[in-house]
Amino acid sequence: MSKNTSSFTCTACGAAHRKWNGQCEACGGWNTIVEEGALSSGPKGSLAKGRSIPLTDLATQGAAPPRASSGISELDRVLGGGLVAASAILVGGDPGIGKSTLLLQAVSAFANKGLKCLYISGEEAAAQVQMRAERLGLTKAPVGLGAETNLRDILTTLDRERPDLAVIDSIQTMWLDTIEAAPGSVSQVRAAAHELVTFAKKKGVSVILVGHVTKEGQIAGPRVVEHMVDTVLYFEGERGHQFRILRAVKNRFGAADEIGVFEMTGGGLSEVTNPSALFLSDREKATAGSAVFAGIEGTRPMLMEIQALVAPSTLASPRRTVVGIDGARLSTILAVLEARVGITFAGLDVFLNVAGGMRVNEPAADLAIAGAILSAREDVAIPPDMVLFGEISLSGALRPVSQMENRLKEAAKLGFTQAVAPRAAKVQSQAGMTLREMSDLTAFVGEMFGAG
Ligand code: TYD
Ligand code: MG
Repeated sequence: MSKNTSSFTCTACGAAHRKWNGQCEACGGWNTIVEEGALSSGPKGSLAKGRSIPLTDLATQGAAPPRASSGISELDRVLGGGLVAASAILVGGDPGIGKSTLLLQAVSAFANKGLKCLYISGEEAAAQVQMRAERLGLTKAPVGLGAETNLRDILTTLDRERPDLAVIDSIQTMWLDTIEAAPGSVSQVRAAAHELVTFAKKKGVSVILVGHVTKEGQIAGPRVVEHMVDTVLYFEGERGHQFRILRAVKNRFGAADEIGVFEMTGGGLSEVTNPSALFLSDREKATAGSAVFAGIEGTRPMLMEIQALVAPSTLASPRRTVVGIDGARLSTILAVLEARVGITFAGLDVFLNVAGGMRVNEPAADLAIAGAILSAREDVAIPPDMVLFGEISLSGALRPVSQMENRLKEAAKLGFTQAVAPRAAKVQSQAGMTLREMSDLTAFVGEMFGAG
């Protein structure tokens, strides 16, 4: 076997292959495999030459890692209660969603709290970042700004300055002169992230890496970096909506699935402390096709409006269009309605949308989705002061969901007075709400819309 075989890597998913292929077997992408430099053959010489590393027992750890708060509470919450020293964080998101804006605001906030902070931009010139800082009113924050893409120079600078926090915007622009591949390629992104994360752990510097994701996954995205860092945050939002959600998908120091809600304004991102009120803001009177879901996002209850439109279709296979909800979830609910309750959607287009650009992943949203669709189909409005939640099983039964009390409490706080929920063994407090517990979908359809 030749010693110096080169390796082939898929630029979309990062899978390694022995030879070039037109299609990646791992992710199915076409023309995504590129040849890269030789794989390392491991340490040279005999293993006996290694240095023995010091070992400690599990109990010797001191206090919990110190955390620094930025004062931006939506950000601190997503981080699990503040920034942990010497941690590595990845912030991913579509280009133009507001990552640089968020991180410039975050780094300024940390700097104002007394942390030594550096912001290294590989995408924009220093003057451009300064212009943005001026627009955001952040020029007074004591942040060290650098515009550089050569990672060797950046690491030297970090080593000399020893900041508490360094933001690298973005990891795709960074390059190491020891690697031949172009910046943004899988091997460069992976190596650059590895260098920065190792540096962070060794020298006690927290790093935040910015990574772009593309819908097609064409450029080496944050995916290849995710396993190296402590925390992975995604910054998401719909174009045309001003709301932005910062979502933790992995966090070694806090709850995953925690979200922070922001609003993009002319003066940067501002915190949204009561997102329920915001997502429901343009609801005035009862309209058919709308249902309010009492959801839980991370540790926080949140109300969201689910909107549906059902219309006769001219197509052989009618449309099923979703925004903010998984398409497979909609198909399942339609199938259960048809098989268990006998309500067919053949010949009908179904459009489903979560208001405000929010995205719903919880199975507990099933009942609100079914409610919105049925309301649209039957042209019967759901009472405007009613919230719904519950998971629909394939048998048509409604399954209890977590944190029912918290959902009811949030609904009560926003002026809702009744809730439709699965029949649960114990609901301690109803928070003053009229609770209509139902055990299956047939009962739900019967009570809400007549016999169907
Ligand atoms: P940016 O942070 O550059 O996005 P990213 O780094 O994720 O690519 O944000 C770019 C968008 O944000 C741009 O379309 C303009 C908008 N924006 C505002 O609406 N208000 C502001 O104060 C700023 C700085 C940007
Ligand atoms: Mg940017």
